[in-house]
Amino acid sequence: MAQPTALIIEANRDAQEAMAAALKDHGYPVLTASTASEGLALLTSLRPQIVLLDLDLPGTDTFELLGQMRVEGGDAAVLGLSRVQEPHFVVRAMRAGATDFVPKPSTAAALQGAVRAALARVEPTPMPDLGASAAAEADRFWPDLDLLFKNSEKMRAVENIVRRAADTNATIIIQGESGTGKEMVAKAVHFISDRRDKPFLKVNCASLPGELLESELFGHEKGAFTGAHRRKPGKFELAHRGTFMLDEIGEMPLGLQAKLLHVLQDGKFFRVGGTELIDTDVRLIAASNRDLAALVAAGQFREDLYYRLNVVTIVVPPLRDRSEEIPLLVSHFLRKFCLQYEREAPRISPETMGLLREYAWPGNVRELENMIKRLVVLQNEALIRDEIILRRSRGPVGAPQHPRSSHPAVPTPQPQAPPTILDTSLGLKEIAKRAAMEAEKTVLKEVLDRVRWNRAEAARLLKISYKALLYKITAAGLDAKGDRLGQRN
Ligand SMILES: Nc1ncnc2c1ncn2[C@@H]1O[C@H](COP(=O)(O)OP(=O)(O)OP(=O)(O)O)[C@@H](O)[C@H]1O
Ligand SMILES: [Mg+2]
Repeated sequence: MAQPTALIIEANRDAQEAMAAALKDHGYPVLTASTASEGLALLTSLRPQIVLLDLDLPGTDTFELLGQMRVEGGDAAVLGLSRVQEPHFVVRAMRAGATDFVPKPSTAAALQGAVRAALARVEPTPMPDLGASAAAEADRFWPDLDLLFKNSEKMRAVENIVRRAADTNATIIIQGESGTGKEMVAKAVHFISDRRDKPFLKVNCASLPGELLESELFGHEKGAFTGAHRRKPGKFELAHRGTFMLDEIGEMPLGLQAKLLHVLQDGKFFRVGGTELIDTDVRLIAASNRDLAALVAAGQFREDLYYRLNVVTIVVPPLRDRSEEIPLLVSHFLRKFCLQYEREAPRISPETMGLLREYAWPGNVRELENMIKRLVVLQNEALIRDEIILRRSRGPVGAPQHPRSSHPAVPTPQPQAPPTILDTSLGLKEIAKRAAMEAEKTVLKEVLDRVRWNRAEAARLLKISYKALLYKITAAGLDAKGDRLGQRN
């Protein structure tokens, strides 16, 4: 059998090279990365079996990164390496998801030994090829159904529908504002259904351009397009006998909607560039934070597909309509983040709890979760209180004062003070171009912050395509604004 591939994530070039040499000596193919984002990209695209992660990576919350790797990295073993060797640090690393810990600096022999031991521990039971990759991509997260369903009348009503629909194969549409828990509800359907031992897979239709989305859904054959170096099964195939969630389905291009409709009607499809008809048995759940019926009316979503999908509709209510859940969610997130960050639970005064309960939470449970995370990390209740008051005064992101409008207004760029010293050597054209770029950046940033970096929503507000938005974010240097791990999942 081929040697497992190792991924080294280490900022220091010399250390990186020494580690790579030690592993190559023992025949492991080695990939290297110097930053967290580079490492994550290699982890998800090339699926190495073992990762050696420098826990001292500058500017990175490596504990959070470890958690992310657990989710994205399938069964990969992750060795944490650090100069810090206090027991509580090591314990934290293991809790966050490290398979083992290696003190730095380490000798080649120690490293080789640790890699061998970690691989032996996670050595998977042999599975057929497709099954193995499905297992690697599947989400094994088991939702806490009591926390999700038992704490408000509105969510008990949702549970009712979930339980009735779960054991049928009915296609489900889940609608609800961003961050309300649509994905959690989808997972609840899966775990209540008798498909629970099979994969739960998800694709976000807003995250990929059309051709790549098609290949992500249906797979492709080797050579189907430039860059298709080998055959790749699609998620429809990998989710066989399990549940497949199509998130942000409102963003799916019309052409692909037609193909999806055919697949739903026949239960069969071709991989991109393929001739073999693939049979698949999946339970489909489509989710959207946009009103699909309105998209149909606007001609942006196929009516026939909408009716084919819409066997059961579940609407997840916004958090402000079930605010009795807030204290319980707060305790849950406090527990979760205190454990994760090994902090004492901060006290929350009745006044702050009152603010938390009354605030309209336009970003719903996700916004609350992030707020509590900040409280645990900063241990400063006053900051949280000020932040809620500020957010409240800044007005709604489509929620409290205008409960019917789900679309926040696009800010008009505020007139900027002219630059004090005009560099006339640039010429009028260049000056105008730069000013326009600055103004564009201001608006981009403002809109992205308002919609909590929901890029699909931002693109819609700005009336540009999703792809154009991604391009503009990069051009404006906004994606380099630090590590946004954990903001979105
Ligand atoms: N009842 C709950 N208990 C605990 N955590 C929750 C609950 N509901 C939502 N969350 C958390 O809130 C965040 C948002 O939930 P989820 O991703 O399911 O929402 P969503 O509606 O799919 O959001 P989006 O539209 O942005 O994709 C997640 O981190 C999730 O774990
Ligand atoms: Mg979601």
